[in-house]
Amino acid sequence: MNHFLDIHKTDADDLRNMIDAAKLIKEAREGMGAGEKDADAPLAGKMVALVFEKPSTRTRVSFDVGARQLGAETMLLSGAEMQLGHGETIADTARVLSRYVDMIMIRTFEENTLLEMAENATVPVINGLTNASHPCQIMADVMTYEEHRGKIGGSKVVWTGDGNNVCASFLHAAGQFGFDFTFTGPETLDPTADAVGFAREKGSSVKIERDAMTAVDGADLVVTDTWLSMHDPQSARERRHNQLRPYQVNATLMAAARKDALFMHCLPAHRGEEVTSEIMDGPQSVIFDEAENRLHAQKAIMRWCMGL
Ligand code: CP
Ligand code: NVA
Repeated sequence: MNHFLDIHKTDADDLRNMIDAAKLIKEAREGMGAGEKDADAPLAGKMVALVFEKPSTRTRVSFDVGARQLGAETMLLSGAEMQLGHGETIADTARVLSRYVDMIMIRTFEENTLLEMAENATVPVINGLTNASHPCQIMADVMTYEEHRGKIGGSKVVWTGDGNNVCASFLHAAGQFGFDFTFTGPETLDPTADAVGFAREKGSSVKIERDAMTAVDGADLVVTDTWLSMHDPQSARERRHNQLRPYQVNATLMAAARKDALFMHCLPAHRGEEVTSEIMDGPQSVIFDEAENRLHAQKAIMRWCMGL
C-alpha cells in the first residue's frame, strides 16, 4: 500500500504513471453514466472514508463518485462531528478508522494532522488539502495541461497572487515533471523556501518576479487562486485585497502571455477578484476540465494507493 501525501514525496515515475493511467481511465468511461462502475471495479468490497475538517465541493464529490466507480463504498465524515473534533488524538483516530475502512482521504488544517494520520494508519492515507499543499489538485492540473498541449515538461507556468498551498504543490510538480515556474506576487506572500528549493534542486528554473506583466511574458500557462484561503483569517481580507489587486488575471495580463496560453484556477473562484469573468469564461480557460479531471486523476491515485 502507498500513502499519497505530497507530490514531492512521491516517486516521479509513479507520478507519471498515475497521470497516464488517469488519461486511460477517463477514455475508458466515455459514454458511461456517472453512477456506472468501471468495467474492472478494482475496489469492489472496499470501504473508503472521506474526512473533511474544511468545506469542499470538488474534492468531496470527485472522491465519492470516483471511489464508487472503482467499485468501493464510501463514508463521508465531518471532522467536527467526529470525536476528532472533541479531543480524541489523530493517532487514535487513525488506528480506529484503519480497523473499519480500507483507505482514508483527509482534508485538514495542519500538515502535521495529515502526517500523524499517515504514521498511525495501517491503510493508505490521501491528502485532500492541508494549509501546506493540495497534491490531488495539481495531479488533475498536470493531466489537464497535457490533454490540451501535450507533455508539460519544459513549459513555462506562471503563478500569480498568493504563494499558498496550491502554489506549493505546483512547485513540487515543477520539480517532478520538469517544467519552469515563475511566481509573481507580493514578497509577504511568497511561496515557501522549501517548495521553491525542491523545484530548483530537481533542476527546474524557478523565478520570483514582482511585476505581473513581466512575469507572464512567454507563459504557456497562467494560474491563480483565491486571495484568502480557508485557513487564512478574515481579518487579513482587506490587506490581501490591496496587496493582490495588481496580480489579478484579466484580459490585459493574459494578453502579455503567449497567445495560446491556458488559464487555470483550482476553484472555487471569486469572480472580479483574483480573476475576471471574461478570463474565467474565455477561450483560454480550462477550469472546468481541471474540475472534471480531479475525478479521473484521483481514481488513478486511489488505485496506486491500493497497489493496483
Ligand atoms: N479545488 C478544490 O479542492 O475544491 P473544493 O474545495 O471544492 O474541494
Ligand atoms: N487555497 C485554497 C484552495 C481551495 C481549494 C484554500 O486552501 O482555501
